[in-house]
Amino acid sequence: MHRCWDSFIEPICRIVEPKSIIEVGAASGLNSANLLAYCSLAGGAFHAVDPSPNPGSFVTSPAFAARGTYHNLPSLQALPSLTADLILLDGDHNWYTVFHELTLIEATCLRLSGRLPVVLVHDIHWPYGRRDLYYHPDTIPPQFRQPHAQRGIVDGQPALAETGGYNYKHYNAIHEGGARNGVLTAVEDFLRETAQNWAFRQIPGFHGLGVLYPPHSLTSQQVSRLDALLTLPPHLRKHMETLEEERLYALLELSRTYWRLGGYPGPLLSKFVHLLRRITGRSG
Ligand SMILES: C[S@@+](CC[C@H](N)C(=O)[O-])C[C@H]1O[C@@H](n2cnc3c(N)ncnc32)[C@H](O)[C@@H]1O
Repeated sequence: MHRCWDSFIEPICRIVEPKSIIEVGAASGLNSANLLAYCSLAGGAFHAVDPSPNPGSFVTSPAFAARGTYHNLPSLQALPSLTADLILLDGDHNWYTVFHELTLIEATCLRLSGRLPVVLVHDIHWPYGRRDLYYHPDTIPPQFRQPHAQRGIVDGQPALAETGGYNYKHYNAIHEGGARNGVLTAVEDFLRETAQNWAFRQIPGFHGLGVLYPPHSLTSQQVSRLDALLTLPPHLRKHMETLEEERLYALLELSRTYWRLGGYPGPLLSKFVHLLRRITGRSG
């Protein structure tokens, strides 16, 4: 999600002028650093929520603690006592977690502040838009858990890969699509069930960014500016979707070649690892 900072997240901050921000899913803290810097300049409060950030993550550093608050908890435990003007969801990418994160956010923000926040949801497109990922499958109630395996995902193939594939170290749902499967499905189900008024926009690229914004909790000028930023002309949307398809093809082709090399211990392998990290945005 950090790669959406310059293009969408920072512009959204300038429109919404949040006085408080929550980030769910910090990993190494690349996005957290941007958000904390924004809050420090704007005099706002910043909360990062992640039960297992990357080793050495910025959110666990003294520099972060001086200005932000880190919650070492899963989102569904942290969110019932937090409210904010802007909330970023990039944690456990499955239907159960995202649906309940949105439900909790709506209820808690209305209860604690009387206002709804702007919510950004990452990974609404391939591969997790219509397929669950579980960091810890045992934390998801069995009735909401899809059949899953610790195997990777490949393009153009609904079944999981035998070896390699995208996010092969994670537990991924065996099937793509169907009821209660994936992040976009969770957002759509939430929007179908809520009694509140939310606008929803989808931005293609870097696995898809969803933006939910509440017209009644924003000024008409803020709503117009968000509409202008997030309503893409059809030709530009098509262009972004094609670029994303090509990026994913390159990513998966690199991954396939990496596995074909079978751990070849030469400089070629380091080059592959470097390219894979760059294209997946995991260099930090
Ligand atoms: C994709 S990474 C986040 C990347 C980060 N937002 C960025 O843009 O650089 C997902 C993170 O979510 C965290 N996570 C997993 N389950 C979570 C949960 N239930 N609540 C909060 N964070 C969770 C993981 O520990 C991991 O660090």
